[in-house]
Amino acid sequence: MGRIAYVNGRFVRQADAVVGIEDRGYQFADAVYEVWALFDGKLADPEGHFARLERSLSELRIPMPMSRTALTLVLKETVRRNRVSEGLVYLQVSRGEAPRDHAFPGPGTPPAVVVTVSRVDRAASEARAAAGVAVVTTPENRWARCDIKTVGLLPNALAKQQAREAGAVEAWYVDDLGLVTEGASSNAWIVDAEGVLRTRDTQANILRGVTRLSLLDVAREAGLTVEERPFTVDEALAASEAFITGAGTLVLPVVRIDGRSVGSGAPGPVARRLRQLYIQRAKATAV
Ligand SMILES: Cc1ncc(COP(=O)(O)O)c(C=O)c1O
Repeated sequence: MGRIAYVNGRFVRQADAVVGIEDRGYQFADAVYEVWALFDGKLADPEGHFARLERSLSELRIPMPMSRTALTLVLKETVRRNRVSEGLVYLQVSRGEAPRDHAFPGPGTPPAVVVTVSRVDRAASEARAAAGVAVVTTPENRWARCDIKTVGLLPNALAKQQAREAGAVEAWYVDDLGLVTEGASSNAWIVDAEGVLRTRDTQANILRGVTRLSLLDVAREAGLTVEERPFTVDEALAASEAFITGAGTLVLPVVRIDGRSVGSGAPGPVARRLRQLYIQRAKATAV
């Protein structure tokens, strides 16, 4: 069965789905997106993703295209029509279609909404988590509003390609002070030499990862000492563990940074436990 997409009020075969060539997402990256993990056909971390979607839209003065309740129905119906149980739901909302002009179009321009669903092979993801992954580092070169989840992802795409060509799965951005900001599509964490779980604070120019936020709760409930404090690449190399979080990766151990081993060179107990606890909680709270 071919994939089904939701495009501006209609469910269509994804192969036939089209958006206008003057869509502002296409011409100006004037669009935001969200990605939910799907467990057993249900949306993980619903509240966190809806809250961030509303914030991203409001920062750009794009109206919410429909109520949260209606949007939830659209997302779930797209999932149902694709018969996907374990996967990812992608939502993109652009400022809509209008004759090309950098400034905003008139207030009557409806936002354009696209939803797609893809399948995830959970067994393969678990195998990857059990082996751990490599990351590379790259200079931070993005705009100053990484807190808004826009589709303007060219620097992220270039960084990811750099990682892929180096045999790694993620690139960590490093700012002018030598501090890791985040990954090209994930947040970065370490268990430092003192045993403290650390991830960068959200005063910094990073995306406020929804998985990051849930995992902070999970880690505190598990009794870990947690600090939202940046770390350098050297601190990450001296750490006992490192990992990344995101709707796509969940909690994924990092075992090499720029070709050098982290800790024992294998996934550590904290990351492994946090992955399990996060998945348990995501399943229990999915809608
Ligand atoms: C730049 C960046 N940071 C962090 C994340 C992780 O965010 P979340 O946990 O909400 O998926 C993503 C996810 O796509 C991302 O693109």
